[in-house]
Amino acid sequence: MNRETLQRCFWQPLYDRLARSYDAVDWFTGNTTHRYRRRALPYLPEAGSRVLEIGFGSGKLHLELAEKYWTAGIDLAPGMVRLTRARLDKAGLRSAVQVGDARALPWPDAHFDAVVSTFALSAIPDIEAALDEMTRVLKPGGKLVIVDAGRSGTRFAAALASLWELCGDYIRDEVPLLEARGFTVAREAFGPGGCVHVVAGTKGR
Ligand SMILES: C[S@@+](CC[C@H](N)C(=O)[O-])C[C@H]1O[C@@H](n2cnc3c(N)ncnc32)[C@H](O)[C@@H]1O
Repeated sequence: MNRETLQRCFWQPLYDRLARSYDAVDWFTGNTTHRYRRRALPYLPEAGSRVLEIGFGSGKLHLELAEKYWTAGIDLAPGMVRLTRARLDKAGLRSAVQVGDARALPWPDAHFDAVVSTFALSAIPDIEAALDEMTRVLKPGGKLVIVDAGRSGTRFAAALASLWELCGDYIRDEVPLLEARGFTVAREAFGPGGCVHVVAGTKGR
């Protein structure tokens, strides 16, 4: 089974039906995954800015974003959207979250000050289309911040990346992809052997 089929036939149905169990990942890792997600926060703009989150999953980071920013979000799994909406309501927070595909964003050009995505782009086969859309909806000078698994040059990170790929993920270096779209980019690796990275780009004016 190739990765695209694994994503479509295994992971996406799982994200949809087992949305409520997704936080077990954080539980199993002693909240490490959530600490990794939060590595995106220092790269985001000032409070009150317009921020879009792509593939927000169970919404843990999204709730934090909604406390500080005017937010919107999109996720392919209806179960994740229902869960995040319920969590936002319970917390008394507002955000325009909806079901949809990162490769066809329903917002006009230059609508957001920042676009953020954690551990979601590795689930998308056609990253070029997703990055084109993320770039389109960003204002000139806006921030695109990605946290995801990667290869940092260590053997451990390479082994883990191969394992993720066997499970259906796409492990990439987003730096050249953002540079090709006119971003100025910073990359920081962290986690065991640098197996996770944050890539933060500023869109050219
Ligand atoms: C591994 S989970 C990551 C969730 C969360 N951001 C996190 O940090 O744990 C991947 C999420 O991306 C969503 N996703 C996958 N492909 C997508 C696409 N093409 N457009 C929008 N969301 C997508 C999935 O439904 C799932 O909720």
